[in-house]
Amino acid sequence: MLLRWGDALFPDSPAFDPANQTPEAQARQFGYNNDYVGYIPLDGSAKHGLLVVNHEYTNEHLMFPGIVKIVDGKVEVAPADKTRVDIEMAAHGGTIVEIVNEGGKWRPVVEGKLNRRITADTEMLITGPAAGHDRLKTSADPSGTKVLGTINNCAGGVTPWGTYVMAEENFHGYFIGELPEGHAEAANYKRVGVPEGSYQWGNFHDRFDVSKEPNEPNRFGWMVEVDVMDPNSVPKKRTALGRFKHEGAESIVAKDGRVVFYLGDDERFDYVYKFVTAGTYNADDRAANMDLLDEGTLYVAKFDEGGKVTWMPLVHGEGPLTAENGFASQADVVIEARRAGDVLGATKMDRPEDIQPNGVNGKVYVMLTNNTKRTDEQVDAANPRAKNAFGHIIEITEAEGDFAATAGTWEVLLKCGDPEVAEVGATFSTETTKNGWFGMPDNCAVDAAGRLWVSTDGNSPKATGRTDGLWAVDTEGDARATSKLFFRVPIGAEMCGPLFTPDDETAFVAVQHPADGGEDWEGFGRPSYYEDLSTRWPDFKDDMPVRPAVVAITKQGGGKIGV
Ligand code: FEO
Ligand code: CA
Ligand code: CA
Repeated sequence: MLLRWGDALFPDSPAFDPANQTPEAQARQFGYNNDYVGYIPLDGSAKHGLLVVNHEYTNEHLMFPGIVKIVDGKVEVAPADKTRVDIEMAAHGGTIVEIVNEGGKWRPVVEGKLNRRITADTEMLITGPAAGHDRLKTSADPSGTKVLGTINNCAGGVTPWGTYVMAEENFHGYFIGELPEGHAEAANYKRVGVPEGSYQWGNFHDRFDVSKEPNEPNRFGWMVEVDVMDPNSVPKKRTALGRFKHEGAESIVAKDGRVVFYLGDDERFDYVYKFVTAGTYNADDRAANMDLLDEGTLYVAKFDEGGKVTWMPLVHGEGPLTAENGFASQADVVIEARRAGDVLGATKMDRPEDIQPNGVNGKVYVMLTNNTKRTDEQVDAANPRAKNAFGHIIEITEAEGDFAATAGTWEVLLKCGDPEVAEVGATFSTETTKNGWFGMPDNCAVDAAGRLWVSTDGNSPKATGRTDGLWAVDTEGDARATSKLFFRVPIGAEMCGPLFTPDDETAFVAVQHPADGGEDWEGFGRPSYYEDLSTRWPDFKDDMPVRPAVVAITKQGGGKIGV
């Protein structure tokens, strides 16, 4: 157990006291709902480095005592006061923490000089084509270049130059209120579901109320880059990578030195993107790479019936991306990247999540979680199942093995679900065992040996007769599409991370929202909340709530995992 919600990150971090939480304490402790996990070696070491972790969102009913009533068998949460809202804001964002492996055991280095918490209040800069645009200006920031915080950081990435990239995914949920009548952003916000109103932050912070700050939602939904080597650096929202419900930001250096980032937009019927930097990566001069993410080309994918993928550029002035169609500049294109994809006719996918380039076999793996709303009429070759409950994985081969190519080929690696149920149409290899199959692929990783590892979101006793977990999936030769269970999370949780250290000797996994639910598990059979939790993982103490946590998995006696 490496890091749990509330664990100390600094010498002055208050001890975790779940009954007496404060925003100040939370801002000095490990945040909630760990999702992306990245490792940045210090001095090239696989045993000593910085762990970077996203804290995607908060589950009030699991976090706070005394706020839940059960009404008609369902959890009802009392309205939030400002303190609770501010704790939630401090539990969001990310953690940067030094970790070391001594004698085969990992521990956080609380004295680490680079340790840092990033929250929904951290000062950030907006850079790239949308920086300073009128559509990003607010009363607190008439420059349109400065923003407070990052939210709903789902997956992410570590760049070749060792910065940490945090994806802003479901930002729509944080906004309340109504836009003024006839407001110019109405259609833009409708396309991304703003305001959805899951959180009550806007009752205490005007910027999350669109009736008071109508442009604030345009300042979220970006990719945030953090220079982890300077704990005082100002994170930058890199608008060149587009604004949508960003999932991950895994990257690879192309043949010519440009850097390619693969980006998913996690919504039913949304798109797969990639960003290719204009400049090239300089391995000998870290500083020379620090603004690579401000210039480049954003592409959206069209998967055709014949197995070809075309990467269509989202460039102002090209094709239909013109003023006549409401795109007056590149700023408009990136702010409304989804609509730009719409007018270009990109392929509407079954919830694109993590996308992983594999430098060993030269392929790219696209996790498509599910889409039960797809009808028979909406089926296409790349999204071949109507009411797709279990998701699938697409394998892309870029033209001439060049990750920066504007075209390539694709095939379905795997349709997920129970292979024994014919109507599901799953395509795991026949070598896959009863516990070996899974549904709902979400995050993924490739280890140093080039093997694909897939973690899931949405398996449950009811959905698939299993919890979420981490599976190893063969991609090569006769074993292709064989899946094996490696790790399983507690009830109610989703499996995030995963990540392998460069020596393949440690797998880090992030157990997100454990105990969120319990109704469909016969061992519990009722709603789960702070006072009555379906699991008290990982402490299993009566006075300690369930805690999302990052787990380090090593082999007994040491050595590479899975060998
Ligand atoms: Fe935050 Fe799409 O998972
Ligand atoms: Ca996810
Ligand atoms: Ca993911």
